[in-house]
Amino acid sequence: MTAGSGRPDGHQREAGGFETLAIHAGQEPDPLTGAVVPPIYQVSTYAQDGVGGLRAGYEYSRSANPTRTALEDCLAALEGGARALAFASGMAAEDCLLRTVCAPGDHVLIPHDAYGGTYRLFDKVLSRWQVSYRPVHLADAGAVRRALAERPARAVWVETPTNPLLSVVDIAAVAQACREAGALLVVDNTFASPYLQNPLALGADAVVHSTTKYLGGHSDVVGGAVVVSDPELGERLAFSQNATGGVAAPFDAWLTLRGIRTLPVRMERHGLNAARVADMLSTHPAVTGVLYPGLPGHPGHEVAVKQMRGFGGMVAFRVRGGEEAAVAVCGRTRLFTLGESLGGVESLIEHPARMTHASVAGSPLEVPGDLIRLSVGIESGDDLLEDLRQALPH
Ligand SMILES: Cc1ncc(COP(=O)(O)O)c(C=O)c1O
Repeated sequence: MTAGSGRPDGHQREAGGFETLAIHAGQEPDPLTGAVVPPIYQVSTYAQDGVGGLRAGYEYSRSANPTRTALEDCLAALEGGARALAFASGMAAEDCLLRTVCAPGDHVLIPHDAYGGTYRLFDKVLSRWQVSYRPVHLADAGAVRRALAERPARAVWVETPTNPLLSVVDIAAVAQACREAGALLVVDNTFASPYLQNPLALGADAVVHSTTKYLGGHSDVVGGAVVVSDPELGERLAFSQNATGGVAAPFDAWLTLRGIRTLPVRMERHGLNAARVADMLSTHPAVTGVLYPGLPGHPGHEVAVKQMRGFGGMVAFRVRGGEEAAVAVCGRTRLFTLGESLGGVESLIEHPARMTHASVAGSPLEVPGDLIRLSVGIESGDDLLEDLRQALPH
């Protein structure tokens, strides 16, 4: 097996190319039966050979479960991390990570355009435990340095590309600023997926995923993950995960792992279709702006070229006529299903201000009313273009 997969970051993987790891990491044939796919260990407890005599290290499925271990080992391999932990949702992963690394009095920098649920976690939950936050334009590494100089932060929370504005953060530059300031760098890698971007190799300390999205890939399971490069932090997280209990269920872990095996081919197709959609929208008279890191005019394009393997399947755009016009377009598509979430094989359309990002209304993170977000699926590209053309005002 050859190491590495020609990735732009030059990061070499230990045991094969990405496509190989997606199919094999953590997924050896079952030692008992030879089953080529890890079985669903739908079990809560394990027989012990005498008190404390664990057979394979498993004692209770909140602490560990073999199907979850398979998923965690695969995720660690795909992100190039020392340890991964799989959770019941992306938010459970975020909460566990933040409550492990932060204590009352700590401060965290967050994106000025963070995912609404992440903002809500900081604003409505963690603030009550005296963990404060400050939204910063993280795409501007100078602004990050200034904010860290003004007030020390325990962590900097990066999303790149962001949800829903698709802004791109230079992970290596922010990692450098974090190292100098002694802050932990967390990157929510949900939009890119590990196929397109590996933040740990660029200097991040922890990667977060909503595995609900591209990793699962089929809109049939909710899950989350944290991957870290430091085994000691991994141990602390495993302790917290067991103590607080937001673990991925065996069937959910199995479904996510099933999705991951095709992640590379799906991401390639998502990217091809999204690029076609972004190009078409860019010249459409009803569209006032397109946000897609693959477009040369996108402010984060050069950084995206440097740190990503492709530009992904998420496209946002603004329409002439304001919020009502945007809502009307969302109601007219036939193939793009109106719905929240993203990253599945089917195309979705949504109005962030009234749907996924309603929780940031009235806050500094409020998103424009004329914005539409697309999760471009892997259907026939021609059909997707035709659907959008008929939905946009002529
Ligand atoms: C970027 C990002 N991070 C985290 C989450 C939260 O994940 P989950 O919905 O699996 O809890 C989402 C969900 O939409 C997301 O888009």
